[in-house]
Amino acid sequence: MKTVVCPGSFDPITNGHMDIVKRASGIFDRVIVLVAANQEKHNFFTTGERVEMIRRVVEAEGLPNVEVDSHSGLLVNYIQQVGAAAIVKGLRAVSDFEYEFQMSLTNRQLLPECETIFLTTSSRNLYLSSSIVRQVGGLGGDITGFVPPCVYEQIHRKLTQGQS
Ligand code: PNS
Repeated sequence: MKTVVCPGSFDPITNGHMDIVKRASGIFDRVIVLVAANQEKHNFFTTGERVEMIRRVVEAEGLPNVEVDSHSGLLVNYIQQVGAAAIVKGLRAVSDFEYEFQMSLTNRQLLPECETIFLTTSSRNLYLSSSIVRQVGGLGGDITGFVPPCVYEQIHRKLTQGQS
């Protein structure tokens, strides 16, 4: 049974993330969507909120081989713990490549058997990122096309909290 881990900040989950998760779930036996700690980022949504939102989307999408978890330590430790065969990540543009390449090599340095598999984004999601969702939504823009419908309300509410 091949388990893979899709790690990320998911702050918040977008249609681009879900596209990668769905495609990974069609290739591998078990997919764990992992809300992991990125020391470089100050997250807008709490870990609990992000996990809960992703769980709702996975349930709404009907993906029985997808699980959701969180981890505050090194990704390679989690990979070892669950016996995952690989990390699966989405690649949008060349701008993603350097960062993802660096992480992939670092993870393999830390855990030599740790493979990273990249799935190229669907062209409709090329421009999409969590920070775009936060920026557009935070300024009252329409984010319905950016995030899964079942978490739209929750994301919109938190992003627009405190706006007059
Ligand atoms: O969505 P992001 O923020 O680009 O995802 C980055 C993430 C969370 C996958 C990365 O920061 C990570 O793997 N964090 C876990 C801690 C860790 O192992 N850091 C070293 C990775 S080279």
